[in-house]
Amino acid sequence: MNAPVDFSCGEAAPALALPARYYTDPAIYALTREQLFDKSWHYVCHASHLPEAGDYYAFELMDQDLFVARGRDDVLRCFYNVCQHRGHTLVQDTGRTRVLVCPYHAWTYELSGKLRAAPGSQKMPGFDKSKICLTEVRLEVFLGFVFVNFDGDAKPMDEWFPGVREAAIMLCPDIEEKIFAHEHEAQEFCNWMVAVENYNECYHCGHVHKAFADGVIDPGSYDIQPYGEGRVLHHSSKAASGDGAWYDTSGSDYGSFYLFPLFSLQIYPGGVVNTYYWRPTAPNDTIVHRGWFSKDGVVDDQLQAVIDLDRDTTFAEDLLLVKEVQRGLGSRGYRPGPLVVAEGGQGINSEHSIAALHRWFLDSVGGAADAERAP
Ligand code: FES
Ligand SMILES: [Fe+2]
Repeated sequence: MNAPVDFSCGEAAPALALPARYYTDPAIYALTREQLFDKSWHYVCHASHLPEAGDYYAFELMDQDLFVARGRDDVLRCFYNVCQHRGHTLVQDTGRTRVLVCPYHAWTYELSGKLRAAPGSQKMPGFDKSKICLTEVRLEVFLGFVFVNFDGDAKPMDEWFPGVREAAIMLCPDIEEKIFAHEHEAQEFCNWMVAVENYNECYHCGHVHKAFADGVIDPGSYDIQPYGEGRVLHHSSKAASGDGAWYDTSGSDYGSFYLFPLFSLQIYPGGVVNTYYWRPTAPNDTIVHRGWFSKDGVVDDQLQAVIDLDRDTTFAEDLLLVKEVQRGLGSRGYRPGPLVVAEGGQGINSEHSIAALHRWFLDSVGGAADAERAP
């Protein structure tokens, strides 16, 4: 029963899928939060969400309430969404304001985070409002996309993901002028690594994503490769050109840049910019967000058709896959199988990209897994 299977055919043994507990164990999830997510760049929103001074956007990231606000100096800043008096949250959802007023006792903060006024404090000896300000979180705008990092010492994104900025501009010269147009989301019922592994291999595309394989890409030229020195997977393909093409895809090729761990920038043929980002919520659950961008922020008929086709095919198909994988990972009968790597480690039917993901993941959470992975 369950005798070891030799997949190697006499050659060096292939890399195996990770043991199931890496996708199910709350202790590993907690370690991942601490060792990886707390030190990663996370996509938050697009700069075009906050066009005017005073615009703010509140959100939750890894159980922390945060908000981004555009200051009078036009600079976007991110803060923990908590008043420094007795801890009330400061803002909800989105809006525009001149100053930030706490709903509890009306302490008032500048958009730069400095305390401007605290009612009744003027006559209080020793109360130095210049020493009180909101707690800031590291923020960068990268190609128009707003990212934050809990780690104040994190390297800038251009060092984390070298070359991506230039490559994306090459593929879509006006990418930094794009405006947010549409976003939808879905619960995936799976561990975040199940979701991003699925995203980062196209071994299943021919079998499952027939509309995508015919309508957006050219499967014969599709490839996924680590990009440069960073933790980036670059998906590339010529544009679909047959009868199944979703729109006039002439103009430029397909390219996407997955920025480990939880964001991917996709440029569909002809410069149609769209994104995936994932928000892990539990060891076995993740929310996936799908964003679309256009020149003027308008979803025209062609873009609407692409969004609808994508949501009803690729997006919906992947939701079913990842949910069922997570169920399977809870099975006592699962023995991790070998990753299928095509000759030369390239092409659409190859899972070499998964091996790269595993390396980055294990490097991040510690090497304790290595012994278990040995064939
Ligand atoms: S908690 Fe904000 S003013 Fe008191
Ligand atoms: Fe897929």
